[in-house]
Amino acid sequence: MLELTVNLDERSYPIYIGKSALHNTDRLRHHLGDCRPIFITNDTIAPLYLNDAMALLADLNPLHFVIPDGEQFKSLAWFEKISAFLLENNCGRDTCLIALGGGVVGDLTGFVAACYQRGIPFIQVPTTLLSQVDSSVGGKTAVNHPLGKNMIGAFYQPQAVFIDTQSLHTLPEREFAAGMAEVIKYGLIYDTELFSFLEDNIPQLQALDEETLQHVISRCCEIKALIVAQDEKEAGLRALLNLGHTFAHAIEAQMGYGKWLHGEAVAAGMVLAAKLAHTRGDLTVTEVARVTSLITAYNLPSEIPADMTSEHFLHHMRKDKKNKKGTIRFILPTEFGQCALVDNVSDQQVRDLIGR
Ligand code: NAD
Ligand code: GLY
Repeated sequence: MLELTVNLDERSYPIYIGKSALHNTDRLRHHLGDCRPIFITNDTIAPLYLNDAMALLADLNPLHFVIPDGEQFKSLAWFEKISAFLLENNCGRDTCLIALGGGVVGDLTGFVAACYQRGIPFIQVPTTLLSQVDSSVGGKTAVNHPLGKNMIGAFYQPQAVFIDTQSLHTLPEREFAAGMAEVIKYGLIYDTELFSFLEDNIPQLQALDEETLQHVISRCCEIKALIVAQDEKEAGLRALLNLGHTFAHAIEAQMGYGKWLHGEAVAAGMVLAAKLAHTRGDLTVTEVARVTSLITAYNLPSEIPADMTSEHFLHHMRKDKKNKKGTIRFILPTEFGQCALVDNVSDQQVRDLIGR
């Protein structure tokens, strides 16, 4: 099993990565301390993993709460239902929530943990590739509001992250591919070696080869941990993790949330970011082609939706959280394996890029 640390002074915590990582009960119990464990999961993951996980801690009388599966349940309504469950069970500050699931379960559980009795500990057990390489690390927790995704939340770090690579064996292929978009993103923003490794190990990753998975997941977590340690609350550097996301959020909003998975939209968004970087003289044609081929190789879309125009993109991107004083800001490659926040892209450049 591999172990990394997110260095945040007194809020530092480990990330454990490996086959059956959660079954390392000594470590799990160490992070629980004297707290009573409460598993939060959803109704897809519960039949697969909940009983086994609860059995590991049977002597601690764990409780569980199961939410329905879906982004729409990452809401204030379900935040309230979980809080009520904790109150009904007389849960005090000596309670530790364990988020067993993907980013939806992790974000919601983390936000309840941040707020319940002004903060109780929580542990992340991410079960999707996206949550293993991104959402479980770094302490962003949130629920959605009808007027916007992730609009109500807190920065609140977990006690530990247990990444069990075995859980990827039950993940639908489309969800695995969506997670690969975020993996490719780390290569483009920070690590050309990782990018080349992804090019050279396509069959191994798609076959979920254990050693290859552990290498890739740990490198992504390492990069994320380095960035979060320097900029926990996204004053600057952390925004680089949003490569491709400005275009992606426009695609998701225009198509209706859920039609395109977030990772699929990020994939198409990264191709646009690479093409835009090329027009600015920062990437070569060959480098843009490498980005497009890698995205296609992992069964991700490299083209934007057929009926989306530049005006659709501009309309949604004008509302992006990164904007300042009405200017749309993009994360763009400045060279292969490096990115920067850029605020001098004109509307006309966006129109030329989209081409319709
Ligand atoms: P998700 O949590 O909806 O999981 C995707 C699907 O896979 C769900 O149907 C889920 O039930 C199923 N699933 C999960 N694990 C499984 C397994 N092992 N086997 C079979 N099925 C499994 O989606 P996600 O992509 O993990 O996360 C998306 C969420 O993460 C969004 O709400 C997004 O806003 C959030 N997010 C947060 C951060 C952050 O930094 N906090 C970063 C990126 C994304
Ligand atoms: N997923 C982007 C971040 O954690 O900052």
